[in-house]
Amino acid sequence: MEGEPFSWERVHPIFSWYHTGKVNMTYESVDRHVLNGKGEKTALHYISETENWSLTYRELQQEVSRWSNVLTASGVKKGDFVFVFLPKHPHCYIAMLAAINVGAVVGPLFEAFMEEAVRDRINDCEGEFLIADSSFLSRVHREEIPSLKTIFTTDKETGDADISITKEAEKADDEFETVWVDLEDGLNIHYTSGSTGKPKGIIHAHRNMIQQYQTGRWVLDLKDDDVYWCTAHPGWVTGTVYGVFAPLLNGVTTVIHGGRFSAEAWYQVLEKAQVTVWYSAPTAFRMLKAAGNKTLNKYDLSSLRHILSVGEPLNPEVIHWGVEALNLRIHDTWWMTETGAQLVANLPTRSIKPGSMGRPIPGIEVTVLDEGGEELPPFETGHLAIRASWPAIMKEVWKNEEKFKSYFPYGEEWYIAGDLAYLDEEGYVFFQGRSDDMINSAGERIGPFEVESKLLEHPAVKEAGVIGKPDPVRGEIVKAFVALNPNYKESKELLEEIRLFVRGRLAAHSAPREIEVIQELPKTQISGKVLRRELKKGEIDQAG
Ligand code: WT7
Repeated sequence: MEGEPFSWERVHPIFSWYHTGKVNMTYESVDRHVLNGKGEKTALHYISETENWSLTYRELQQEVSRWSNVLTASGVKKGDFVFVFLPKHPHCYIAMLAAINVGAVVGPLFEAFMEEAVRDRINDCEGEFLIADSSFLSRVHREEIPSLKTIFTTDKETGDADISITKEAEKADDEFETVWVDLEDGLNIHYTSGSTGKPKGIIHAHRNMIQQYQTGRWVLDLKDDDVYWCTAHPGWVTGTVYGVFAPLLNGVTTVIHGGRFSAEAWYQVLEKAQVTVWYSAPTAFRMLKAAGNKTLNKYDLSSLRHILSVGEPLNPEVIHWGVEALNLRIHDTWWMTETGAQLVANLPTRSIKPGSMGRPIPGIEVTVLDEGGEELPPFETGHLAIRASWPAIMKEVWKNEEKFKSYFPYGEEWYIAGDLAYLDEEGYVFFQGRSDDMINSAGERIGPFEVESKLLEHPAVKEAGVIGKPDPVRGEIVKAFVALNPNYKESKELLEEIRLFVRGRLAAHSAPREIEVIQELPKTQISGKVLRRELKKGEIDQAG
């Protein structure tokens, strides 16, 4: 990169499509490495409480090919939506790569989604295919998802599904002719919460690989012999982009941990797999910190050389914990579902300012705008804006052109993230919160509207307002204020019932951890909309 300003086009020649004109993310992530003599290298390393095994790039290619053959034989075609509802397990990776290999758009669903979250997402884009673990199928109510044609299960017994993909794969050919697509064709869809309405389907294109590969090199600092672990489930965009695509595009070994969080289990994964590069989130680091040094000291974590964080503000205390406990600085990164890849980050070669998310990576320009769309000088807080466009920006919001346009309120030049921030004189970005009512609990983005709507479906609830209440470990927790219908009396049991009502339909992370009954919710005079800001202010005042 001698002197000249960086241009993303410089990255293109590493991909085979640059030379052949034939595009597919799976080909670049898997087949390309086998052709380049890396077939015997470990691609996936799976660790759970009871299992510990690996797949080489060649084995992964063969397995993905078999599954691709089954999908094609079952009628999956280019452009179809294939939803994947699986735990953190190599099957999840294989299913996603196979769906992409046959030209479909993959929709990974978070493993803890409950029935209505699953239903609403598949219904929104009229998904026809689903690959699911049989134990998750009770959360898939087929009669409510009329578009669904075929359910594949990863179990050997077909059960309530139509096809056992693992059983069929055993009989299938381990070679598959990649379905070539265009760089602009759909790759994946993730639903993400806004402050109004149901979650929106953010569709990304195969061209994302340009930025995903390059940020894997620059930001994750991936080198040939790295063992890399991203702790996110692919149902979240981090788990897809930096759990599946970026590491495989870079040809490194990726660790998959099956099972829930516990400090012991996580330290064991780091030790057993000899993880060198680790990507996680502030809440997880805070929980590890809370587990104490005695737990930490039982493990040999000397393989670690680079740690990164995403999803929520990385407080300086966490960075200090990293330095003291692990002798490494945790590097913050900033991006969103819609941006498709990291945009602001602390590169390993640059110095870190605790409290800042870092600076825009090469090829990305960031500024801060005031309400009128004018650029603000350093240290003044306003709307974080990114100069459009960049290789991994979303392709579209599914069936919602208006929503897509809403990211560009000041014209096509600047993408507005919805975050408030200021820059310092060196261009370091300091996150200052959201400009809307979005809740961020443990790095998970929760739209208050979705939770409020669910609360209102409970017969006892007359009015509901949902906010993020500051929390020392999770950043924020979901707190609901409700007014009850006349025939209901407040009781511990009733509130627990309401909480479980939401939890059982959406997902555990969306359910309010706290519910407070009030007589009447504060509302705007004109439209009668619940004033979440008032509720939040009261909560913060109370906390002092
Ligand atoms: C929102 C995006 C794709 C990343 C995972 C979350 C918040 C993200 C940081 C950070 C402070 C952050 C922002 C952003 N966020 N990274 N490093 N520091 N806040 O993706 O679910 O689409 O949420 O997460 O508010 O807008 P997401």
